[in-house]
Amino acid sequence: MSLLLTLLLLPLGSSVGSSARQGEGPAVRVTGHQQTDACQCRVNASMWLFPVTAYEAALQNTGSCQATLDSVQENVQLSGQHLPRIQAVIQNVTARLQPFLYLNDGGLYTRLTLQQLSQELSQLEANIDTIHGQQKNGQTRKLHKQVAKLRQDVDQMRIGNIINIKTMKETLRTLKNRAESCKSIPKDFRVQSQSCVKGLMTNISEPVVTKVSPFGKSLIAGSWGKQAMQDSPVETTSYWVQPLVNSNSWGNTVRVYPTLADFLTSTKHHDYNLAPSHSHPDANDGPNAVMYGGALYYHCYRSDKICRYDFATKTVVRVTLPGIEVGYNNRFPYCYYVCSTNSDVDLEVDETGLWALYATSGNHGNLVISRLEWHSKEKTLNVTHTWETRLFKKSVSNAFMTCGVLYATRYQSKVSEEVFYAFDTATGRDDNTLSLPMEKISQGMASLSYNPTDRRLYMYNDGYLLAYPTHF
Ligand SMILES: *[C@@H]1O[C@H](CO)[C@@H](O)[C@H](O)[C@H]1NC(C)=O
Ligand SMILES: *[C@@H]1O[C@H](CO)[C@@H](O)[C@H](O)[C@H]1NC(C)=O
Ligand SMILES: *[C@@H]1O[C@H](CO)[C@@H](O)[C@H](O)[C@H]1NC(C)=O
Ligand SMILES: *[C@@H]1O[C@H](CO)[C@@H](O)[C@H](O)[C@H]1NC(C)=O
Repeated sequence: MSLLLTLLLLPLGSSVGSSARQGEGPAVRVTGHQQTDACQCRVNASMWLFPVTAYEAALQNTGSCQATLDSVQENVQLSGQHLPRIQAVIQNVTARLQPFLYLNDGGLYTRLTLQQLSQELSQLEANIDTIHGQQKNGQTRKLHKQVAKLRQDVDQMRIGNIINIKTMKETLRTLKNRAESCKSIPKDFRVQSQSCVKGLMTNISEPVVTKVSPFGKSLIAGSWGKQAMQDSPVETTSYWVQPLVNSNSWGNTVRVYPTLADFLTSTKHHDYNLAPSHSHPDANDGPNAVMYGGALYYHCYRSDKICRYDFATKTVVRVTLPGIEVGYNNRFPYCYYVCSTNSDVDLEVDETGLWALYATSGNHGNLVISRLEWHSKEKTLNVTHTWETRLFKKSVSNAFMTCGVLYATRYQSKVSEEVFYAFDTATGRDDNTLSLPMEKISQGMASLSYNPTDRRLYMYNDGYLLAYPTHF
């Protein structure tokens, strides 16, 4: 406002100034009476009515306008300095949000989502019908009712355009998990799970085995462990190490030691070639392998598949993981503080069998647990069950399975990790109030796996190989 005023007044002030300078006021008419030598004049005094007050006000205004201009100038300069910083922050935030864009692309709240939800629901209805047909009981009857109620709600939403997809999705997820837990599980699964203790893990001791990797400390990513199958007919006492030799991301060999003593002294090893190169479809992608029976199971190179390398026949059999857009190529790695490169898909073994842990866009990047089964007669690898958790995979540093329970860890410090989360596949329930610390030697934890034969956790800690006894 004051600036506008000044601008209006300014031409007045300047014209006054210039007239004075040139000494040329407006012409003055003088009426004379020729009586004496003197000359009487009548001056039109209104010509001289100079707006002194207005002039002073204008002057003052010009002064304060200068101050205003100065402060504007200052602000512009400051903004000039701040702007690059603000732009940098915006760029940084944009970059950090980039990985989550799929949430938007996926259209959490679109009709398409509703359609997809409806399809998933149909599949669940069919699934529960099958389970109910096999084993009519209170549990499956209840599930049946709840799914019918959800179907009603979804149909209502389609008609009424009332969107509460988030709640619907969560209900669907819970029901799907419960249906999975209800599915009949093969007999041998139950026998093995009898060796399970009831309740959650209560403590993790200090590592009892610590050894520098036989491949040296510079290969900071990989996995290692011990034969994980109870009473395996082959490789009964074997220990193995699998370094990711290319970019700490890919590998195509595994080194096997017949016994712990051989492993500790680095003698009598046997190297197996899983694939002719580290970019072959049969190569190992990321730190995730486990030895289970006569085979090494791992994530196949740049794919949504699990590979099974048979030590005897030296052949690879694979299975595709279920889910909408299984994450790989660092889409959903373990990431809590530092990301473990290519750790998108993880293989685990527990008392109840073989598991794959990964994340899908369909489950919003949250951890998905699939149970795998090897059919030795048919020579096929199959996924039998799949559970979806609410735990964002990139917010945990690693995960493992014990007695059908998934445990997840988070980074605490350079020398400590903490088990903080558990998801029970028997009930579909989770618990994020755990706090079991684990000491480590170095910062990076490429892989962490439970071994049911000795109840130890095997960690690939940069170039160090560590084994921790666990307690229930
Ligand atoms: C004095 O000058 C003003 C403006 O120049 C004019 O409007 C006014 O009529 C003049 N008065 C006389 C008495 O001449
Ligand atoms: C954003 O800033 C943080 C520190 O404030 C930094 O650690 C991170 O690397 C930055 N990210 C990008 C993409 O620049
Ligand atoms: C739990 O493990 C820690 C080592 O991680 C050990 O110091 C502590 O004594 C153990 N606590 C119990 C109750 O066993
Ligand atoms: C296992 O998977 C194979 C394909 O890999 C399929 O042909 C077979 O029917 C599946 N078996 C079971 C029991 O689902």
